[in-house]
Amino acid sequence: MLNKVKEIYQEIEQWEIQSKDNLEQFRLRYVGRKGIIAELFEQLKQVPQEDRRAVGQELNTLKDFALQRFKESSTSLENARHEEIEVPVDLTLPVVPNLYGTQHPLTIVRQQIIDIFGRIGFSVADGPEIESDWYNFGALNFPDNHPARDMQDTFFVEKKSEGAPADLLLRTHTSNVQIRLMEHQRQNTAFRPIRAIMPGRVYRNEAISARAHCMFHQVEGLYVDRNVGFKDLKDTLYHFVKEMFAKDVKIRFRPSYFPFTEPSAEIDISCQICHGKGCNICKYSGWVEIAGSGMVDPNVLSNCGIDPEEFTGYAFGMGVERITQLRYGVNDLRLYTENDIRFLRQFQGA
Ligand code: PHE
Repeated sequence: MLNKVKEIYQEIEQWEIQSKDNLEQFRLRYVGRKGIIAELFEQLKQVPQEDRRAVGQELNTLKDFALQRFKESSTSLENARHEEIEVPVDLTLPVVPNLYGTQHPLTIVRQQIIDIFGRIGFSVADGPEIESDWYNFGALNFPDNHPARDMQDTFFVEKKSEGAPADLLLRTHTSNVQIRLMEHQRQNTAFRPIRAIMPGRVYRNEAISARAHCMFHQVEGLYVDRNVGFKDLKDTLYHFVKEMFAKDVKIRFRPSYFPFTEPSAEIDISCQICHGKGCNICKYSGWVEIAGSGMVDPNVLSNCGIDPEEFTGYAFGMGVERITQLRYGVNDLRLYTENDIRFLRQFQGA
């Protein structure tokens, strides 16, 4: 038995494993459960009791040796394989094209709006998306019991409790920035006219569908100075829609109501999709609403420390998604947030 063990030991020592097939043969012969070493372990039962221990030890050493050879060879064969497939670099091959990202359609349109107003002297202002009840509603002349404060429309972050200073909420419109801008003016000794647009994200508690979303974008506009009149509002918005859409776009002002403007008007433009023929975007009326607007309510000016006897102003607010829909014919609000590359790619170079 011991001779047999020695013989196999030598056999293993001399076996040079050079290929995968060869390695497999080695495994079957020595390492496998039906290999000769396993067979010798079987035969160990027949070895006389007094020798069994010594032979057993030898057999174990042999088994470990075979296993070690097997492992070493399989790793070195693996490494060799990697070296083999390393091909020389072919500098004449065409390059793999880089995939360029695209700007999001809402980013494109927001920038166009900023550019158009920038050319007529409007600066850009920003404000917080998590806002207090005062900036989102109170200062804007919303009565305490106004339905917009209801849980239906507003996402509350912190609900009013005894002794708490104010409700925290996700702003439902960008009009909060109007208040912050005007309030800031109060800190200036000499009044400087405010002429700014305020793009930003707003939130409303709506079920997500093709026509409604709980998160969307607005651009607010505000102009406060001496002698600002409704005509200025009309001229400015008229200029804007012509720049944004087409020179022949029609615009109309419809009387409306907002707590923070008086008088108020909603602004419709002739449908840019069907050009007045009637389609499902304009609901076959030929007109689409793009903004709310009006003269800043004197109460709002006073709330911000601006004397309404001396100063007047106009404000407007428009939905960026709606403008984008009319510019690019995007018919489902959900597309803006789904990150579907087939949708986004269409804006390459836009
Ligand atoms: N904040 C209004 C809205 O979200 C829009 C608006 C802004 C109307 C400014 C008038 C003046 O619907």
